[in-house]
Amino acid sequence: MAKQTIRDFAVENKRVLVRVDFNVPLDKVTGEVADDTRIRATLPTIRYLIDRGAKVILISHLGRPDGKVVESLRLDPVARRLSELLGMPVRKLDDCVGPEVEETVRAMQPGEVVLLENVRFHPEEEANDPAFCRDLATLANVFVNDAFGTAHRAHASTAGVADYLPAVAGFLMEKELKFLGDVLTSPARPFVAVIGGAKVGTKIGVLQSLLTKADRVLIGGGMANTFLLAQGNRIGASLAEPDKTELARHLLDQARAAGVELLLPVDAVIADRIDAAAETRIVDIASGVPDGWSIVDIGPKTIARYREALQGTKTVLWNGPMGIFEIPPFAEGTRAIAAALAELDAITIVGGGESVAAVQQLGYADRITHISTGGGATLEFLEGRELPGVACLHDKMPER
Ligand code: 3PG
Repeated sequence: MAKQTIRDFAVENKRVLVRVDFNVPLDKVTGEVADDTRIRATLPTIRYLIDRGAKVILISHLGRPDGKVVESLRLDPVARRLSELLGMPVRKLDDCVGPEVEETVRAMQPGEVVLLENVRFHPEEEANDPAFCRDLATLANVFVNDAFGTAHRAHASTAGVADYLPAVAGFLMEKELKFLGDVLTSPARPFVAVIGGAKVGTKIGVLQSLLTKADRVLIGGGMANTFLLAQGNRIGASLAEPDKTELARHLLDQARAAGVELLLPVDAVIADRIDAAAETRIVDIASGVPDGWSIVDIGPKTIARYREALQGTKTVLWNGPMGIFEIPPFAEGTRAIAAALAELDAITIVGGGESVAAVQQLGYADRITHISTGGGATLEFLEGRELPGVACLHDKMPER
């Protein structure tokens, strides 16, 4: 069911509590924001509210401080970056509840923006404590959830506060739900899913869900090794989950039964150790990987095969790298998939840290239809699970 958004609520002169996901990487040396993608992604919501004379109260977590104040996880660098991006002052408060915060937000002027302190400094946040939810709710007239990346958490600021305030989606949340929702319910076909990453264990739910929806699934990354092992291939010292081979066989059977093509690598880049200076070779999977060598990327034949499998598709969902992307000599497969997606005339959706990093580093981000800001949230959504931060929002009225 579609959710109401900030368009459905008269926000002028209202205090609007906006849950954003400003859980961004900070530079280890300077402490400043190292990647502002998630901050930029919320700008349409924040600007819309500013332009309509709302009083914008932003709330987020940063890292996992476990209910204590951790100096290095204060949101000051985020406020500085946001202020630069908005071209206006953003006042950062030193807490997110309490009399001083209440007084400050009561004195806010229309169009003003404040950022509350890291909400996870309070243990009540993750406990979804009702009194804490009420304290957050007293700050505002309406709750806007724009934190898709944290929508899989049933915390006070992501879900609980919606028990005490009208609750609607921001534009980023709306966009994520639209693109990822369409993939699950009505993808333009042919629909191909490209799934990679280290472990099959973390993607079982997503694979099971996509095997009922996609026309074709291309597998890469460390998780492909478990499938190759399950088929009786020799994979040398490659990363794999031998305890998941039964599951891999089951997924292969499930694909066959559903008439879904499941493609696995036919060749690979192998290395004598996991290091940028390692010796590397290209081998056919059918010939086996020598003892002591590891698969570190998909090979050129696989790249060509996967590129071909993407031609003529109308929807592509990509999650997870094809090799050990963070080590440059092992990044070619991931780079090739990013390039292939950028060339397609299709709805392309990319989620997951390394796949997103690949399209950004290669300068393809503006040629991808939708780059998801979620990590775990995107996976849980694609598994078909209801996210607490979405379930708590008001449903759109049915059209007459
Ligand atoms: C994320 O980065 O995936 C979200 O911000 C959620 O963070 P969490 O896993 O610490 O809840």
